[in-house]
Amino acid sequence: MEAKAAGISFRDACAQASARIAAMPAKQKIVTCPLCGEQFLGFGDLTAHYLAEHPDSAAPVELRMTVNGRACQLIIEPQQTLKEVLQYNLGLTGAKQMCDRGQCGSCTVILDGKPTLSCNTLAADCDGKAVETVEGIAVNPKWQPLIDAYCKWDAMQCGYCTPGFLVAAKALLDRNPTPTEADIKEALSGNICICGTYPRHSQAILEAVTYMVKGGAENA
Ligand code: FES
Ligand code: FES
Repeated sequence: MEAKAAGISFRDACAQASARIAAMPAKQKIVTCPLCGEQFLGFGDLTAHYLAEHPDSAAPVELRMTVNGRACQLIIEPQQTLKEVLQYNLGLTGAKQMCDRGQCGSCTVILDGKPTLSCNTLAADCDGKAVETVEGIAVNPKWQPLIDAYCKWDAMQCGYCTPGFLVAAKALLDRNPTPTEADIKEALSGNICICGTYPRHSQAILEAVTYMVKGGAENA
């Protein structure tokens, strides 16, 4: 039987992830001044508007990133975090905000190959970088054994922390495809689960490793 959590099947969740990635805007055509709401056709016009109308305010900045393999060009406010840009500008809600203080790991994404807390990373500092979110992992067949193992071992209760754990696990397996239980515990030590599911994560990841190494999943 297909695993379900909170009334949604994981097949549905993966389909939703795929749809959200497909819906990400590659380039913002119309930009809105966050101070007065006036709309412009491009970054140049918005910058000129700031100089003329809001000279004492920090102007928006242009941000180019590759997100889950897709190039994105966005206009953002300079104080926006990476998590906010993923959620509000791109519609990717997989990175969760629990503490918003860099303490819990629920907002983890992979930035240029490294697990990174998106709640305390300035989006403007990510210009030119590659971001991978839990949505990108969910739609990649290579990582289906990891998701299946999480379902099998029920490595979640409320599930709020699960995306951060999954992303941290994927980052670990990228750099170490055959981790020991000690390696897993160390790699996940920055992730907090208030439901106390910690042992299940090690079980799930170790089973996924067994399958991926023996099964030789090769869909990069
Ligand atoms: S929400 Fe980012 S570390 Fe807790
Ligand atoms: S499963 Fe609820 S916070 Fe981890």
